[in-house]
Amino acid sequence: MPQESTREIGIILNGVSGRMGYRQHLVRSILAIRDQGGIELPDGTRVTVRPMLVGRSEQKLAQLAEKHGISDYTTDLDAALADPAWEIYADFLVTKARASAIRRAIAAGKAIYTEKPTAESLEEALELAQLAKDAGVKTGVVHDKLYLPGLQKLRRLIDSGFFGRILSVRGEFGYWVFEGDWQPAQRPSWNYRAEDGGGIVSDMFPHWNYVLENLFGEVRSVYAQTATHITERWDENGEKYTATAEDAAYGIFEIEGGIVAEINSSWAVRVDRDELVQFQVDGTLGSAVVGLFGAKIQPRNATPRPVWNPDLEDAHDYDADWIGVPTNEVFLNGFRQQWEEYLTSYVLGTEYRFDLLAGARGVQFAEAGLASSAQGRKIALDALSLG
Ligand SMILES: NC(=O)c1ccc[n+]([C@@H]2O[C@H](COP(=O)([O-])OP(=O)(O)OC[C@H]3O[C@@H](n4cnc5c(N)ncnc54)[C@H](O)[C@@H]3O)[C@@H](O)[C@H]2O)c1
Repeated sequence: MPQESTREIGIILNGVSGRMGYRQHLVRSILAIRDQGGIELPDGTRVTVRPMLVGRSEQKLAQLAEKHGISDYTTDLDAALADPAWEIYADFLVTKARASAIRRAIAAGKAIYTEKPTAESLEEALELAQLAKDAGVKTGVVHDKLYLPGLQKLRRLIDSGFFGRILSVRGEFGYWVFEGDWQPAQRPSWNYRAEDGGGIVSDMFPHWNYVLENLFGEVRSVYAQTATHITERWDENGEKYTATAEDAAYGIFEIEGGIVAEINSSWAVRVDRDELVQFQVDGTLGSAVVGLFGAKIQPRNATPRPVWNPDLEDAHDYDADWIGVPTNEVFLNGFRQQWEEYLTSYVLGTEYRFDLLAGARGVQFAEAGLASSAQGRKIALDALSLG
């Protein structure tokens, strides 16, 4: 039998004490991959991971390292970047701190894997993508929502031709984020301060961009109306602060082929849906409603024929007209699935489409959303390319 070869990859994980860094990237992805003995490539090579934790608090890092049996951690990012034992730099910092760290990592020749948004401005996002291209380093940007079971079911419906011609997409995302006075807020306070890189547009529009472009087609224009509905909040220390960033955005997007998408994003809405995010897709041959996990469909040939009559209470049970889409497969945690794909692509040297240029399109989309709201007009999106 051929000898199985093993390749260990050292990965710098910066920002592991944060919400995303700790739960999704360290615990659910990298440690899960480590603890299952790595991943196996099609050629039989086993790829294992060795994490190096980086952060600002030595004490927090030491606790995390001890808790999870990790031997490497440091507060000195530049020293980690200078060490060839670490091949990949992964970034889960607050958005504001990201670009400068990624710039240093590219200069050190590391492959890059990062949370979105990749930068605070399109100019900077494109600069990072160009720097990485010039340095010849592989890059990857988190596209986690595409891996949600509900959206994977939607992908299957699209691929099967279920919809016929897709006409429109309607998305509702959001929930009530407590102000922090009488119940602690369930999101970090920087999310509500523009000066700290906060705002629901820069947080959520990059997601909507890759969801729309990967499922339906390129986004051609953006119209958005933003609002800061809750203007006073209380931070992690119970201190009152002024919310300077928008906490809701109501957007309409034109997609190639004439599809119209409308997505509301809000941290000031009370949930009356099955899940925290839900999309309805209407097509000539059928419609679907999908969430994080669930998906239901209504084909053309089982569509009721409502007639508008304000004088008669409508006894029809519209909920009952939908058919559940079965799960049919086991879905991995989306962050982990994408990590496995990125690592596989890194080792095999194949093209990776969710790269820093894709990330820059997400930043472009968000920037256009903010500009649209400020100027009260629709903004066309230019195709982006690198030199
Ligand atoms: N993919 C997703 O679904 C998703 C969800 C939420 C957040 N995010 C993104 O993940 C990133 C982190 O968000 P979070 O909610 O985990 O935030 P967080 O505040 O919980 O964590 C941020 C991390 O950055 C570190 N940090 C803060 N300021 C820093 C500075 N000045 N220099 C260096 N490090 C600093 C913190 O110590 C912490 O480790 C953001 O860019 C956000 O947009 C992605």
